[in-house]
Amino acid sequence: MQDKTALVTGATSGIGRVTALELARKGATVIVVGRNESKAREVVSAIQNETGNERVSYLLADLSSVSATKALSEEFHRKFDRLDVLVNNAGAIFMTRGETVDGFENTFALNHLVGYFYLTNLLLDTIVASAPARIVSVSSGAHSFGGMNFDDLQGKEKYSGWRAYGQSKLANLLFTYELARRLEGTGVTANALHPGFVASNFGRTNNSESTLQRIGLRMSQVMAVSEEKGAATSIYLATSPEVEGVTGKYFQNCKPKDSSKASYSQADQARLWQVSEQLLQINATVPPVKSASSTAAPVLETAIA
Ligand SMILES: NC(=O)c1ccc[n+]([C@@H]2O[C@H](COP(=O)([O-])OP(=O)(O)OC[C@H]3O[C@@H](n4cnc5c(N)ncnc54)[C@H](OP(=O)(O)O)[C@@H]3O)[C@@H](O)[C@H]2O)c1
Repeated sequence: MQDKTALVTGATSGIGRVTALELARKGATVIVVGRNESKAREVVSAIQNETGNERVSYLLADLSSVSATKALSEEFHRKFDRLDVLVNNAGAIFMTRGETVDGFENTFALNHLVGYFYLTNLLLDTIVASAPARIVSVSSGAHSFGGMNFDDLQGKEKYSGWRAYGQSKLANLLFTYELARRLEGTGVTANALHPGFVASNFGRTNNSESTLQRIGLRMSQVMAVSEEKGAATSIYLATSPEVEGVTGKYFQNCKPKDSSKASYSQADQARLWQVSEQLLQINATVPPVKSASSTAAPVLETAIA
């Protein structure tokens, strides 16, 4: 990974922190994305100390905010000229419904619309220009809880934290499969994964759980795997020669696996892409697909109306 640059979102905790650490250990230039400056600074210096790799830095953004995510991408473009690995990892569950500064439901915004879909599209020009490159999106087995409720995507009529979370993780797969198709021929791969049930900070932030839910989560985390184990598939997809050129797949324990039937609906994949563009008021014109060598022109035009 010596000549590679990798950006990991949600790298201030849990699976993302271990992913960033191991990418740095393998010699990559690593960009830790966090939302809390003191935490990000601490993680960067811990990774530098542990790996001896000085090429670790951080960028900050609330990845549920459109303007903050756009500002992060602008800062990235000012500071870096390549991106070989993007790990979309930042995510959370929100037990009570809330809205972001842009008026989107929190789970949908952070776990799909802004944190994964928008960020990826904003960085795609550099990713395609750096091909061969990889986009790795952390989904979850919870994606199989149900389907996409396109009539009430943001839980305005009926909200359940787990339902919203499951739907957002299904969105990660629909997005990955559509993205992989759109990127065919560019040398950029897009894959998704389930990290397992991991003893991280997941479910402990946002202060929205009831006492009962908190106790339930603590008890169930006794059965959870370590953050190191949880990060293994992200690291594998980001670095292993075994998955060179492999795209549009779902992995668990470093092995490909079938995802839910709903995730393979090409109609829903295309619909989610279109709805996401409409909600963001952008025109994320990935493709017409070009080969990596012919991508002199940007593949993405984003214009927030
Ligand atoms: N843990 C599991 O059992 C499990 C299972 C399946 C899938 N996953 C998925 O794995 C991914 C990582 O979760 P984790 O278990 O490592 O949880 P975690 O320890 O809570 O880490 C989540 C990361 O996301 C960041 N984040 C949260 N909200 C953010 C926001 N608005 N803007 C920017 N960053 C934000 C957090 O920042 P702070 O450090 O500032 O809080 C943290 O770095 C998530 O996508 C989750 O859905 C986890």
